[in-house]
Amino acid sequence: MPVAYADIVLGLQMGDEGKGKISNELVANGFYTHVVRFSGGNNAGHTIYHKGKKIVTHSIPCGVIHGIKSIIGPGCVVNPKHFFNELKELQDAGIKTDGLVFIARNAHIITDEHLLEDGQDNTIGTTKRGNGPAYRDKYSRKGIRAEQVPELEPYLIDLYEEFYGHGSGRYCRILFEGAQGFGLDVDWGDYPYITSSHCTVGGAILNAVPPRYIRNVWGVAKIYETYVGAKQFQPDDKVFDKIREVGVEYGATTGRPRQCNWLNMKELVKASQINGCNKIVINKTDILDTVGVWKLYGLDGNIKEFQSSDSMRSYIYDNLPDYIREVKFSDNPHGF
Ligand code: IMP
Ligand code: MG
Repeated sequence: MPVAYADIVLGLQMGDEGKGKISNELVANGFYTHVVRFSGGNNAGHTIYHKGKKIVTHSIPCGVIHGIKSIIGPGCVVNPKHFFNELKELQDAGIKTDGLVFIARNAHIITDEHLLEDGQDNTIGTTKRGNGPAYRDKYSRKGIRAEQVPELEPYLIDLYEEFYGHGSGRYCRILFEGAQGFGLDVDWGDYPYITSSHCTVGGAILNAVPPRYIRNVWGVAKIYETYVGAKQFQPDDKVFDKIREVGVEYGATTGRPRQCNWLNMKELVKASQINGCNKIVINKTDILDTVGVWKLYGLDGNIKEFQSSDSMRSYIYDNLPDYIREVKFSDNPHGF
């Protein structure tokens, strides 16, 4: 088989868990031949630090930064204008993109009408990037695919041909880069306060790579939670404003302040199980350390307070399913 293996990076909370950082680290130190974005559009914002420079990508996978073929998968929606802008931003940051950035022929397009319609949303609190209307038209079979847009022709790729078509004995090693997270998933999230695509492991296996080639599923979370959108999420307690300031919790795409809350252990366990994670990263432990408060919602739903970061970490580690071999806690904004 031309596919050797695929790893997946996905979010276990409501986006902004630090997936970009983890994907970037895995790509920099791994042996991948392809990085594929499997869900969402340019509603996402992945912040990556590369050679001391801050780079925010929205729809183009991080592989390009390391000279690896980067593909926007068929489960994604693409705004062509925004795609060209993002390409230019990467080039302006000194990143070589020629022959490295591709869009699946069968990905769907976000049109100006979609943007206009989503721009008027005030019930969900969307990023106003046209995602919901674009997916609606895809599923109602009225959408436009990337292959119908002439300007995109030089960037189009057929995933089947790419992974199975060369007959050269060349093995593909793929990293699937997720966007958003479990709590925003169209099926598993808190409907209707969700995004319109599959942010779970299911979304990754719609990309011409069947489940038996999946090697590692990396779930990424933060040691507290954040959410951007219309529903009330942050409890009435000043400590969360402190967490937002210390953690710089403002949207990478829209600049909106993120609502903050304690980590929800029950949801974390559920997200890890449903995604079949065998590796977990819990980011931003330094933020609670700076604020000096260590709390979470325990498995019984009640708030649990800890006297130190270590005891909180032990609780998290001990209560995750035991088939999760690796749980990393990270206080490093630039890596693991
Ligand atoms: P949409 O995906 O723009 O339709 O927005 C739907 C919901 O998902 C809103 O609450 C958004 O704030 C949220 N959302 C979408 N993309 C992201 C993301 O990349 N990070 C965090 N929240 C997101
Ligand atoms: Mg983000």
